[in-house]
Amino acid sequence: MTSTPVESWSEDVARDIVSNIAREPGPILLCLQAIQERFGYVPAAAVAIVAQGCNVSRADVHGVLTFYSDLRDTPPPPVPVRLCAAEACQAVGGRQLLRDWQQACEQDQELAEVTGVDEPIFCLGNCALGPAAMVAGRLLGRACVDSIKQAVHHHAEGSNS
Ligand code: FES
Repeated sequence: MTSTPVESWSEDVARDIVSNIAREPGPILLCLQAIQERFGYVPAAAVAIVAQGCNVSRADVHGVLTFYSDLRDTPPPPVPVRLCAAEACQAVGGRQLLRDWQQACEQDQELAEVTGVDEPIFCLGNCALGPAAMVAGRLLGRACVDSIKQAVHHHAEGSNS
C-alpha cells in the first residue's frame, strides 16, 4: 500500500468508491482503505459518505477509522517514514533507531517537515531483517538513520523529476 496521495479529495469519487464496495463483506474497512489508497488519507467528509453507503452510523465508521493505526485522517507528509516498534525489531535495536531518528529530525527541521512524525508501526513483516522501516511505502531492512535518510532523499528526488 502506498501512502502517497494520487489525487485531490473528491466527494463524487469517494461516493463511487463506496458504492462499488458497500455490498462486500466487511465494507467499512474496505471503503476506508480504498479511499486512503486513492487520496492518501481519509478526510472527515468521507466518514458520512461511508456511513451512508454502508448503511451504518457515523460512529461505526469513526470507530473503524480510529481503531486501525494504518488509517490516517490527515494528509500524509511528502515522504512518510514509519519505524517498526514490534518485538523482533526491538530485539535488534528498534528502540534505539527510533531515538536516533527522532534526534536526527530534531536536528534537521527540513527532514522533519518532509517525513512528518508518524506513529510507529507494529510489524512490517520484515522481522528477519530488523530493525525495519518503511519510507514512502518502500520497505527497508537493517535500517539505520543513514539508510532512512538515503531512502528519503532518493524518493524526494524521484518525486521531483
Ligand atoms: S517486528 Fe519489525 S518487521 Fe516484524
